[in-house]
Amino acid sequence: MKAEIAKRRTFAIVSHPDAGKTTMTEKMLWYGGAIREAGHVRAKRNRKHTTSDWMKIEQQRGISVSSSVLNFPYAGCWFNLVDTPGHEDFCEDTYRALTAVDSALVLIDSVNGVEKQTIKLMEVCRMRHTPVIAFINKMDLDGRDVLDLLDEIERVLGVRTAPFTLPIGYGKSFAGVFGLRNNTLHAMGEEGEEEIALSGIDDPELDRRFRASDLEILRERHAFATGAMDPFDKEAFLAGEQCPVFFGSAIRNFGVKQLLEAFAELAPGPLPRESDVRAVDPFEESFSGFVFKIQANMDPNHRDRTAFIRVCSGMFERGAKVLHCRSGKQIRLAAPTAFMAQDKEVIDRAYAGDIVGINDPGLFNIGDTLTAGEKFRFRGIPDFTPEHFSRVVLMNPLKSKQLAKGLEQLSEEGATQLFVPVTGSQCVLGVVGELQFEVLQWRLQTEYGAETRFEQLSVFGARWVVGPEEEADRFRKAHLNDCYRDKKDRLVCLFPNEFRYNLAVKEYPELRFLDKSEE
Ligand code: G4P
Repeated sequence: MKAEIAKRRTFAIVSHPDAGKTTMTEKMLWYGGAIREAGHVRAKRNRKHTTSDWMKIEQQRGISVSSSVLNFPYAGCWFNLVDTPGHEDFCEDTYRALTAVDSALVLIDSVNGVEKQTIKLMEVCRMRHTPVIAFINKMDLDGRDVLDLLDEIERVLGVRTAPFTLPIGYGKSFAGVFGLRNNTLHAMGEEGEEEIALSGIDDPELDRRFRASDLEILRERHAFATGAMDPFDKEAFLAGEQCPVFFGSAIRNFGVKQLLEAFAELAPGPLPRESDVRAVDPFEESFSGFVFKIQANMDPNHRDRTAFIRVCSGMFERGAKVLHCRSGKQIRLAAPTAFMAQDKEVIDRAYAGDIVGINDPGLFNIGDTLTAGEKFRFRGIPDFTPEHFSRVVLMNPLKSKQLAKGLEQLSEEGATQLFVPVTGSQCVLGVVGELQFEVLQWRLQTEYGAETRFEQLSVFGARWVVGPEEEADRFRKAHLNDCYRDKKDRLVCLFPNEFRYNLAVKEYPELRFLDKSEE
């Protein structure tokens, strides 16, 4: 069992739409032998679609359910690639996916550099000290200067860089990369990637193969990278403070192999996890895990859902009985599924690091812990402040039960955050991307039969109010109209503007106003 666990590499790809995540995923699966030809993963969801297209695609949930986690073997490791939604309006799902991984690949477009969504998602990685490896993609285009890109990663993403390769030539003349760690040339050949061992950066083989002007730039960059930059420090990498950087072109299948090898060699296997009682080591005999994602199937007749569980310790066998810690119930995991490219299949066992899907009869919430019997709760899934807020108005008052049920289930599933007012009855929904509202409204109608109107609210941000009870009470009474309870009954203030927020911070020094919930 220990060897199986140590082999696991569970990671996610962090990128801005269009940086090449789909292409990269496809190439990785190809290396792992999980698909026979490129073009398979092209279920390019969301990105350039209109809402109605998105809904149609979501109806065919088969695609997105089965591609939620992709597994493949490579270089003696077992990779679990946790897929994240392509559309930025659904990046809340990505935040949660990042809590289920042990490392991340940051994919950056060489032309556009560090983009908005990458910045947001990297904040989550930084908060969790997730080790990241960066890949600068689209080197076959006339992109930005290498040092400029490295500098931007350091400044904007707040992580030091250690280039592992340097490109030779740019854009159309991009011809390969030089490996800094072992002086290897990876040349772009007719038949894919050619690997040649060199004596160093001055090896005449380089001069035989490449243009003098490209080599001059390469040697300059090399002198800078080896002279002025910090050398790679594995501890700093594992602490999420320094990231190895690779250059390549996913579409031309260049640099992907080097990247996978780096993941196999450098990225950590399953890491220990904190719980409210003790730290849980992945190599412990007993099974434990937590739910990081719930996906509803769209068939309104069977309101069944799939709960995705990250296995945190030990091994889990089909049919085993586990403890659902929140409810104290024993449940049998009858048909755990794993996901292989397009197919999902029932599996017999899964190890720490793996992700399995189980049928959820409506019992699970995001963040729930499952164990072999011990009672504890994993930390690690805070709620982040939504960016858009809407009040829900029910069109047919006779359907209030349906609405309540729909809102409850959709918030359990993580499709929205539900805020219940401390006075009054109209709930407020919070989402990260506006497109989520349209999807929610449509799902409330089609799955629960509740026709609603959403009234957008102008809210500066949700702040979880934390501090001595008396003070929190005083605050609540003075801000009744802006105070709500979240799904865990925590006090949240939806500040209408920044001024009111700043005022509260000043007036209530004993309270903290957090933009993400404490776990
Ligand atoms: P995403 O999932 O991150 O949104 O990106 P995706 O892989 O879909 O790639 C976005 C676009 O960038 C695609 O072009 C893709 O072909 C292109 N691309 C990916 N990697 C590279 C690369 O290394 N070099 C270059 N030049 N282009 C790359 P598209 O025109 O939007 O789609 P398609 O017509 O290729 O399907």
